[in-house]
Amino acid sequence: MASSRAADEGTLLKAILQESVTEVVVFDADTLRIVQANPAAAKNLHYQPKALQKLTPLDFLPPEDRQAFHTLLTLLRHGKKRRTALSVHCRRRDGTLYPVEVRILYSADHEKPVFIWIANDVSQREATRQALAHSVSDMHAIVAHIPGMAFQIQRRPDAPPTLRYVSEQSAQLLGIKASALHGKPERFYKLILEEDRPDYLAQLAQADGGHMTFNWEGRIWMKAWKDVKWVAIRVSQRKDEGGTIWDGIMLNMTHSKQAEAELLRSRAQLSALAAHVESVKEQERLHLAREVHDDLGGNLTTIKIGLSWLMRHLPPDQPLLIQRTAYLDNVVDQTFEAAHRIASNLRPAALDFGIVPAVAWQLQRFTRNTDIPHEFSAPEDAIPLGPDAEIAAFRIVQEALTNVAKHARATRVKLRLVREPDSLRITLTDNGRGLQPAPENGHGFGILGMIERAATLGGELTVHPAKRQGTQVSLRIPLAVSVPDPAE
Ligand SMILES: Nc1ncnc2c1ncn2[C@@H]1O[C@H](COP(=O)(O)OP(=O)(O)OP(=O)(O)O)[C@@H](O)[C@H]1O
Ligand SMILES: [Mg+2]
Repeated sequence: MASSRAADEGTLLKAILQESVTEVVVFDADTLRIVQANPAAAKNLHYQPKALQKLTPLDFLPPEDRQAFHTLLTLLRHGKKRRTALSVHCRRRDGTLYPVEVRILYSADHEKPVFIWIANDVSQREATRQALAHSVSDMHAIVAHIPGMAFQIQRRPDAPPTLRYVSEQSAQLLGIKASALHGKPERFYKLILEEDRPDYLAQLAQADGGHMTFNWEGRIWMKAWKDVKWVAIRVSQRKDEGGTIWDGIMLNMTHSKQAEAELLRSRAQLSALAAHVESVKEQERLHLAREVHDDLGGNLTTIKIGLSWLMRHLPPDQPLLIQRTAYLDNVVDQTFEAAHRIASNLRPAALDFGIVPAVAWQLQRFTRNTDIPHEFSAPEDAIPLGPDAEIAAFRIVQEALTNVAKHARATRVKLRLVREPDSLRITLTDNGRGLQPAPENGHGFGILGMIERAATLGGELTVHPAKRQGTQVSLRIPLAVSVPDPAE
């Protein structure tokens, strides 16, 4: 019974050895000759199982691993150890090497003591480890070259967040060594200027609330510089088992923020300058219009009175003189008209009565000059616009009408003035061919000027395609005082 059980176990063991992917080699403790090797060993070493029996392990160990092998065998033989492990390379029959992790046992239970070599081919694991090492070193190389600090935060539901990784640039960017920041990530928060902290915390809370990204721009205090530095943080979240990982980058924005501030400053200066130029131009126009009207008009009136006196006193038998004087009187009338036209062009008198009469007058002139009919609607009550806003609105309508005449090929225009609670909305719609791209060599300052004028007054202007056809210019301009619209 016992012997049949032993026989069963023997068969089982043999089957295991046959099928195992682990190399098992038994070799004589004295001669080191291989007594038995399983198929996995033969397969790994590229030998026929029988051929292996003529060899010793030294035949497939490269010279550099033999010394360690011998030392181990000696320890085992002297009973200093019963088994021991070793990482070595084995040489295949074709000379190529592969790494193995091997355990060697010493057994003196049989008539001849043997060593048992049990080894696993770890080339796959080794390749994976090397690939991992490469990708880690690649990642470090890439991270070292990005112009900012990379970091990774791990967030678990019931634990405080931990800084899993922070790149060396932290020293340069924040003045804190990566290792120091790693240990105390809260040091970053302490750098943030007090007034920027609420915004930082608000963004953080949003990201905690499920936003997949966390973007923040703010200022930190750099002790070493004794100055402020602008930084931008960009983080994206991803799930991992049991929590989230925040992959982030922090960039130094100081230069671009300074450039942005400089740009805004220059833009504001430019706007102020443009507004100043416009206002000087308007004053000049007003002045010229008055000169033409008062001075020139006054002189012309005097001439006209003089001529009519002459007419009355000329002897009736001097037809040539009478004819000449009548001709001069006619020229004076024409000059009157011209002076009036010039003064109106410079500054329409209708402007003195408010924006509605002024644009109505301009619209009539437009139709008269272009034969394009118009529709006009405006509130009946006076619109409380300041004098600057009135002139700006008028000039904008004037330029928009000029654009219709120049570019639109329209057959109708519609001007609407609508009183809103705090502002006046003016829309000019044409039914022309739609907004045309400005010619490449054209200067095209009209629309820019309109936008600038509107912005200077705290309003806004857009030029866009009209609903059905053509172009619409839409202007919103704040009222001087916000009086509730009586119609509401
Ligand atoms: N009502 C419109 N219909 C069609 N195209 C238009 C209309 N208004 C403007 N455009 C197009 O927009 C361009 C820019 O207009 P903008 O008034 O800025 O310049 P401009 O009229 O060409 O030159 P400037 O006004 O400086 O004399 C025009 O060249 C034209 O192509
Ligand atoms: Mg124009």
